[in-house]
Amino acid sequence: MKLIVLISGRGSNLQAIARAFKMKKIKGKISLVISNKKDAHGLEIAKEYGIPSEFHNPSVFKTREEYDIHLVERIKKEKPDLVVLAGYMRILSDYFIESFEGKLINIHPSLTPAFAGLKAPRQAIQYGAKFSGCTVHFVTKELDKGPVIIQAVVPVKPDDTEHTLSDKILQYEHRIYPQAIKWISEGRIKVKGRQVVVEGAEYGTLPVNPALEDF
Ligand code: GRF
Repeated sequence: MKLIVLISGRGSNLQAIARAFKMKKIKGKISLVISNKKDAHGLEIAKEYGIPSEFHNPSVFKTREEYDIHLVERIKKEKPDLVVLAGYMRILSDYFIESFEGKLINIHPSLTPAFAGLKAPRQAIQYGAKFSGCTVHFVTKELDKGPVIIQAVVPVKPDDTEHTLSDKILQYEHRIYPQAIKWISEGRIKVKGRQVVVEGAEYGTLPVNPALEDF
């Protein structure tokens, strides 16, 4: 299993995934981390874990498409099995998405399809939702709405703020993202249209569904 991780900022999901590889909970490796931000903290995390990392500057390209063509070419050289978006804060062009169809996953801090787009925890608070959570999904052209691999549910309490809710959701992100990658690496994910089934996983447990294994 060879992964490429795309980041833009803090990199806490990258860290959770890198730790899972280091602890041999997932077989394989992250072969490259790519950031579109020079000062992304995630680049430091890559260094800490000895993972090669690169900053690719979008401002030297005229259009989003040109940047994405450049990125696709770079990523394809690595021949990854999976391309993982971990807080990558750019809208992807159709070309990018088509280039890695079925091999491109994202994590979003809501129970999709609710609260797509930016600041999902704030959207959940403002809406008055009583539960929110996070979702690992395949990436399709519809923003944050591709087929769901795993979701974790987090209750929203009356005194929660955007920040407390984000923190609680993040704790689950760090568990479900490595779990989803492990399942993919084991070839246990079957996709039929929108339906994703994890072979051998226990379904029907909360707050994480399907159940986490040993994360
Ligand atoms: C996470 O909340 C993730 O769900 C969203 O962007 C944030 C990235 O955080 N897509 P980090 O950079 O992994 O710490």
